Amino acid sequence: MTVLGDVVGRSSVVVCCGSGGVGKTTTAAAIGLEAARGGRRVVVVTIDPARRLADALGLRDGLSGEPQQLPVDVGDGEMWAMMLDAPAMFERVVRANAADPDQADRIVANAFYRNMATALSGTQEYMASEALYELHTDERFDLVVVDTPPSRNAIEFLEAPGVLTRFLDHKAFKLMMLPTRTGLKVFGAATQPMLRLIGKVVGSDVLGDAVAFFQTFAGMEVGFRERADAVATLLRATGTEFVLVTSPQRDALVEAAWFADQLSERGYGVATTVVNRVHPRFGDGSVADARKRADAAADSGRAELAATWANLAALREVAERERAEVEALLGHTGAPVVDVPLLPTDVHDLDSLDHLGRYLFAVG
Ligand SMILES: Nc1ncnc2c1ncn2[C@@H]1O[C@H](COP(=O)(O)OP(=O)(O)OP(=O)(O)O)[C@@H](O)[C@H]1O
Ligand SMILES: [Mg+2]
Repeated sequence: MTVLGDVVGRSSVVVCCGSGGVGKTTTAAAIGLEAARGGRRVVVVTIDPARRLADALGLRDGLSGEPQQLPVDVGDGEMWAMMLDAPAMFERVVRANAADPDQADRIVANAFYRNMATALSGTQEYMASEALYELHTDERFDLVVVDTPPSRNAIEFLEAPGVLTRFLDHKAFKLMMLPTRTGLKVFGAATQPMLRLIGKVVGSDVLGDAVAFFQTFAGMEVGFRERADAVATLLRATGTEFVLVTSPQRDALVEAAWFADQLSERGYGVATTVVNRVHPRFGDGSVADARKRADAAADSGRAELAATWANLAALREVAERERAEVEALLGHTGAPVVDVPLLPTDVHDLDSLDHLGRYLFAVG
């Protein structure tokens, strides 16, 4: 059994994380496909996949953010996918926590809420973690594979579950909730000195919307807090595995190493590191050997052959340097490393996804 094959076979949640553009979405899709072929009922939550990958997975524009079973042949397994629609997900969470439909309607109609649901830093990560929780408790699925959003900072996903409740704990917002407790009207609240000051900075309309939002929201914090705790617990549970994706470039490796350390400090395990788009080894020979042959070919006047060997020497050198850097920067994490080479084309259809999967799940 390969390391990733084992992860795919035994876990109930796989989180594909890493910095922007390294191949998280592609890896999540390939992992989902492999698990489904292994007979599991899998749902992949993708975030903004490249158009052709979305098409290949049968995910078209206008999808409601509900899981859809994909028409791919996976034997006894099932392959489902869902594209995260963060605002729709946020609304679902609000409706689930509201005391009645009227409270939910008032919240989702509020301008401050709408701004938060679409633009608050961390909302996408927060909703990805909510989707993960919802799907984990859905009996239709054995395994949830989560792609994480293209964050500036990979750690945002881990902090996501508490983002709203931490926001609500902020002093200024507590003050805005005050009117509900003291019976003050929105207008009354907005005339308090501290809020008047905030109103001068952000504009009184914005402040009015915010105060109205917090007043309407009153009573729902408890549900949100409990849910954030449950999601955080699930992320730490046995059966939840993190697959850290990185490219072999130094900057990406430094960030991946930092992220792996953060994960372990916080008590999460990195199951596997995928180093994506590495240069292949090009045979078993060494750099020195290829150089020697290049020199010999040049000496005997065969310029093209000499250039080819020189090329091979240069490529082997890049490949060796990449492996040395991976070892130097990620070796201390102790997580197994799986190499995936730079493929000749983008990974945008099922064939190329299979191609990538052969490396992800290669034996030996
Ligand atoms: N091994 C590979 N060889 C060639 N192309 C690849 C490989 N892995 C991924 N790609 C391509 O690189 C692009 C980026 O991959 P992907 O979208 O999976 O990255 P991501 O980490 O999800 O990015 P973002 O942070 O923007 O969400 C895609 O076009 C994908 O097809
Ligand atoms: Mg992505």
